[in-house]
Amino acid sequence: MIKDNKIWIGQADEPVFILPKMANRHGLITGATGTGKTVTLKTLAEGFSEIGVPTFLADIKGDVSGLAAAGKESSLIEERKVAFGMDSFEYQAFPTTFWDIYGEGGHPVRTTVSEMGPLLLSKLMGLNETQSSVLTIIFKIADENGLLLLDIKDLKAILDYVYSHNKKLEAEYGLLSSSTISAITRNVLALEQEGADVFFGETALDLTDWLRVDASGKGMINILHAVKLFHSPSLYATFLLWMLTELFETLPEVGDMEKPKMVFFFDEAHLLFKDMPKALVDKIELVVKLIRSKGIGVYFITQNPQDIPNEILSQLGNRIQHALRAYTPSEQKAVKAAAQSFRANENFDTEKVITELGTGEALISTLDEKGVPSVVQQAIVIACQSSFNELPASERSAIIAASPFASKYSNQVDRESAYEILMVRKQTELAEQEATALAEARAKEVSVKEKAAKPKRTKKTAMEKSVDTALTTIGREVGKSITRGVLGMFKGFK
Ligand SMILES: Nc1ncnc2c1ncn2[C@@H]1O[C@H](COP(=O)(O)OP(=O)(O)OP(=O)(O)O)[C@@H](O)[C@H]1O
Ligand SMILES: [Mg+2]
Repeated sequence: MIKDNKIWIGQADEPVFILPKMANRHGLITGATGTGKTVTLKTLAEGFSEIGVPTFLADIKGDVSGLAAAGKESSLIEERKVAFGMDSFEYQAFPTTFWDIYGEGGHPVRTTVSEMGPLLLSKLMGLNETQSSVLTIIFKIADENGLLLLDIKDLKAILDYVYSHNKKLEAEYGLLSSSTISAITRNVLALEQEGADVFFGETALDLTDWLRVDASGKGMINILHAVKLFHSPSLYATFLLWMLTELFETLPEVGDMEKPKMVFFFDEAHLLFKDMPKALVDKIELVVKLIRSKGIGVYFITQNPQDIPNEILSQLGNRIQHALRAYTPSEQKAVKAAAQSFRANENFDTEKVITELGTGEALISTLDEKGVPSVVQQAIVIACQSSFNELPASERSAIIAASPFASKYSNQVDRESAYEILMVRKQTELAEQEATALAEARAKEVSVKEKAAKPKRTKKTAMEKSVDTALTTIGREVGKSITRGVLGMFKGFK
């Protein structure tokens, strides 16, 4: 809800706000299961939508979809309206676009292997350091030869190509052991079996399609239907990280703005950082730090603040802490740490209150006009104007069908890329090999004596020539090579 052009999220003695101009200083919503995180998340998304800021949310349980339906009148909310003076509270639906990697609960979201880049792909496949560095080289070979890696088929084709030409390529690119390439290929096959191949291909998502407002000026709420995706935690995490870094690469610097360009909510954030190599954490930290100046706010949602690496945690300015349990020593330690991250309020003991908060209640501290964290407040989250419940399937289908993106993303296209080009090369090579074999068979007819007297060969074999041609032809055919950004993601052709 909006009050005095600020996002009204909770009520302590006074209303508690998030200031639009500080909303890109990121945030954190934490709390144990069932304490009110999702309702808080929806309340915030509504507030952003009302000030014309589009958002992105992942819907893991299905209940976030309720944003697209008006809330049901309840005595609890009616009482709050009077008690808090929530005059403009309206049970209302918000403009939403549904997305789904599997294309079932929303428009399909796809990206290309080239766009994802070797670093995130390594994370997705759980590659070790050696495998990851070989994959980076394989991307380099593809990039330098202008070979587009769009889908898993292309990735398999380039792996096959490098496998069969590794000795030749090693001279230019360094060690490319056959066993490592085989191991990567096995991981690609596993990825395919997991069903992750649906994510790779075209039409790739244009993230700027998420930066939209509706006809009345409300920010569009982009909901990623992640109920199924969540069963592949690694794909879920990689997808969110890809999106964040892709936006970072795409958007221009804008400096301080009156309100963010877009806000991202990353639910189940503990999955993002689970088993994440330090090098990747460092890069994500950098992206989170710098994306602020591109007008993007990032809000992490997780049970416990300790799920987020410290370097990232320290950048999250707007914090909403729901109740935490403190039965075990490690839970008690977590409560202490969470309490200490707030600026103390002399009227209560933060640590004690965290364990006593009721559902929908929270400790809140946001950044003030000067960017200073406010003294922590014990507040009631005012609740969302949309439905608490999951959107019925028929209403979801109607929204999907009416969306302007229904036709843009519904078809999978398969244009010429690495697979097609390398298939042609392979056929040429095979033909040349056959020709060589034939020539050799004919040569057998030459007398043994003559053969022994033959000088050592200095010329390249037909096979070697064909490899040379393969590389130069690929380069010539496309005539361009690919450039990459901070996380090794595709940036364009040069
Ligand atoms: N601010 C609120 N005002 C009124 N009721 C609330 C509020 N927040 C939560 N509730 C009630 O509590 C229920 C559970 O809240 P919610 O789904 O937000 O919890 P959660 O922390 O997201 O749980 P989980 O970790 O299981 O996803 C809601 O369905 C709603 O009935
Ligand atoms: Mg929830």
